Amino acid sequence: MHKIQNPVAHIGIIGGGQLGRMMAMAARRMGCAVSVIDPTPDCPAGQVADQQIVAAFDDQQAMRSLVESCDVTTFEIETIDVTDLIEMENAGHAIYPSPALLARLQDKLLQKQWLVEAGLPTAEFVDAGELNPGTFSEFGYPLVQKARRGGYDGRGVAVLKSADDFDRHLPVPSYIERFVQAEKELSVLVARCRSGHIRCYPVVEMRVHTEQNVLDSLTSPARVSEEVAVTAETIAKRAVETMEGVGVFGVELFLTAHGDILINEIAPRTHNSGHHTIEACVTDQFEQHLRAVMGLPLGSVEQLSPAVMLNLLGAPGSEGRVKLSGLSEALMIHNVSVHIYGKAQTRPYRKMGHATILNQNLETAEQIADKLRDIITISGENEL
Ligand SMILES: Nc1ncnc2c1ncn2[C@@H]1O[C@H](COP(=O)(O)OP(=O)(O)O)[C@@H](O)[C@H]1O
Ligand SMILES: [Mg+2]
Repeated sequence: MHKIQNPVAHIGIIGGGQLGRMMAMAARRMGCAVSVIDPTPDCPAGQVADQQIVAAFDDQQAMRSLVESCDVTTFEIETIDVTDLIEMENAGHAIYPSPALLARLQDKLLQKQWLVEAGLPTAEFVDAGELNPGTFSEFGYPLVQKARRGGYDGRGVAVLKSADDFDRHLPVPSYIERFVQAEKELSVLVARCRSGHIRCYPVVEMRVHTEQNVLDSLTSPARVSEEVAVTAETIAKRAVETMEGVGVFGVELFLTAHGDILINEIAPRTHNSGHHTIEACVTDQFEQHLRAVMGLPLGSVEQLSPAVMLNLLGAPGSEGRVKLSGLSEALMIHNVSVHIYGKAQTRPYRKMGHATILNQNLETAEQIADKLRDIITISGENEL
């Protein structure tokens, strides 16, 4: 891509996946220049940025040169070595959300401990310690074991129903928490700007693949009572306010069978549950995040149309170079937008793109999503 002239600001993005790509596109639209750091050459965000630094997320020198060459640096992933970033933040560089905050959230056990300290509702948990079967049994099944670091899209999560499942535990530093019988999984995207002004998007209802624990699709607004919606928004805002976060935060919640709301996890970044905002809301989550981290006023979070968003995941059974089929059939359907992330390789359940369906009737939108799930396939050259 050609370099932008007289940029409004130069934005640095750590992480070059689809979130970085959509953020870079929003930044370009706003007249900003973008540099991305990611170890994969021509990563999804690198393809639409002015510049990509090809380096690992623990390459402190590369990280320094990114921060020093940009007006504001932000990130789209949690698995970053924050040591030098904290130093650079202390030296006066604009890095948002704060790397010190990231340090607390990127370790899921520290995050859970913080939630308890802050008086926010969350499922009961203990440190899994040495991973003895006794610790698990004493805590009680069914339980969910979660890796402290590095998990995403369900990869750091093991649902263990009984002691017979102990063999399937993750052999990593982790904690165990109560299995929540969720009536619904909800998400609230909260934006907080540098001056402390806060806004949140309407509550979203998520459907998660039961086996892979990865997001399948979402419906916005969530079909919940006014009371549930207000409680969810209040809890989510309180969390981001308490941590004094700057940027967009994805607050994942469980609505339990008893009507309680618990925080599952907080992502200090734009989130998969906000992709529909690109077509459905006045200000999409990526522009909103940029406004927040650049010190600009937040935009309207008003949703102009009900929406369903379907993740386009790599088909099970194959991997490798991407073969996309069904695109023209999908695009013949009214009010369907398809986003493809430009990843070179697919693998089962990898996030390869998404589709947004706008419709005044959410049931109709869901039926269209069901159709699209069959129409669009993203498979790989090599069978597994
Ligand atoms: N305590 C729990 N009880 C029931 N299901 C859970 C629990 N924790 C996680 N899950 C399921 O696993 C999914 C992924 O877990 P999460 O902690 O959000 O990790 P990730 O970082 O992969 O998103 C959740 O969206 C939910 O469907
Ligand atoms: Mg999650």
